[in-house]
Amino acid sequence: MSKRLANIAWETFSALPLTEKTSFLMQSDGAPYHTLFAQQFDYALLDQLATLANEIRAIAKTRVGAEFLSQQVTHKRAMLYFSQPSSRTFLSFVSACQILGVQTGEVRDTAISSEFKGESREDSVRTFSSYFDLIIMRTPEKGLAEHMAWVLSNSDRPIPIINAGSGQDQHPTQALLDIYTLLRSFERGGGLRDKTVVFCGDLLRGRTVRSLSYLLTNYPNVRQLFVAPEPLQVGTDVLAILEQKGVPFARTDDFHAAIREADAVYMTRIQDEWDNAKGESAAIDTHRFKFGLDELALLPPRAIIMHPLPRRDEIVTAVDGDPRAMYWRQMRNGMWIRTALIAMTFGCEKRIHDYFRHNN
Ligand code: CP
Repeated sequence: MSKRLANIAWETFSALPLTEKTSFLMQSDGAPYHTLFAQQFDYALLDQLATLANEIRAIAKTRVGAEFLSQQVTHKRAMLYFSQPSSRTFLSFVSACQILGVQTGEVRDTAISSEFKGESREDSVRTFSSYFDLIIMRTPEKGLAEHMAWVLSNSDRPIPIINAGSGQDQHPTQALLDIYTLLRSFERGGGLRDKTVVFCGDLLRGRTVRSLSYLLTNYPNVRQLFVAPEPLQVGTDVLAILEQKGVPFARTDDFHAAIREADAVYMTRIQDEWDNAKGESAAIDTHRFKFGLDELALLPPRAIIMHPLPRRDEIVTAVDGDPRAMYWRQMRNGMWIRTALIAMTFGCEKRIHDYFRHNN
């Protein structure tokens, strides 16, 4: 477990840059204990996770393999605390837990938990830790998962937290499944190095973009193109990291030119749930930032189309049948990579590797 987080004051820890926080969150073998930020994952760890996810999906194909997996973490229970709507992340984490034999509980609406009676988030999370061994949490508040990780690490029931989406800030496990999808898609195309990833849509408020943009910096010479209407262009915090790491990038509103250069186009929804004023997003002209059949015609033959989903109209459904449309497979990849993450969090990856080697 992460002992160091119990030895640092919250004010000191929270003031550290993300890259320095990382060492407080990892286990001694390099596996994540708390999973809070994309910055915790380097090239080697991403490779380990992708390999483990590949092994798990291969093992799960047979009944005897699925039974083996379902015996791995039967002694642990996970709490899914989602105070913000979710379909994919919630269900894929539930499925991941089921694959490994982890039993689950859930709070999806704080109006029916004791928060409604005025209980603080800290007390709620400490309450969950009394009954469970892992908390997977989605919140609208930036930094809450991080604070709760510190609170629990300083309690008598220190258990890991996985951030399943925190405000507009980070969605690290979405970025893991995005990277896993890219790695699988380019397995026979030279890997991820030297590729161009085009992000399009609401890049300012999309937490998946912030997390994925960072993870891509682990791969050599991956160029990032950010295509958005000016009010929704990617944040300066993201660009500062790319500049610091010497990553090639550009901001543009010319979607068609970007598509011609793309190896992957990552579409995002307009995140109007974060509007400060009524109708703020609706006033922005977004019609040039949608993916339809005209855009499909411009896409290079080996490029892929991704989307964290849910979508509205930013990808027309007529695109869904194209073999380059990867968003449905991307969603299922989320279940496998989250299974791998939970397996690593609970330290059972060696048993899975051994089983895979002996049976494949
Ligand atoms: N991509 C994603 O986080 O989807 P959900 O909001 O449905 O979990």
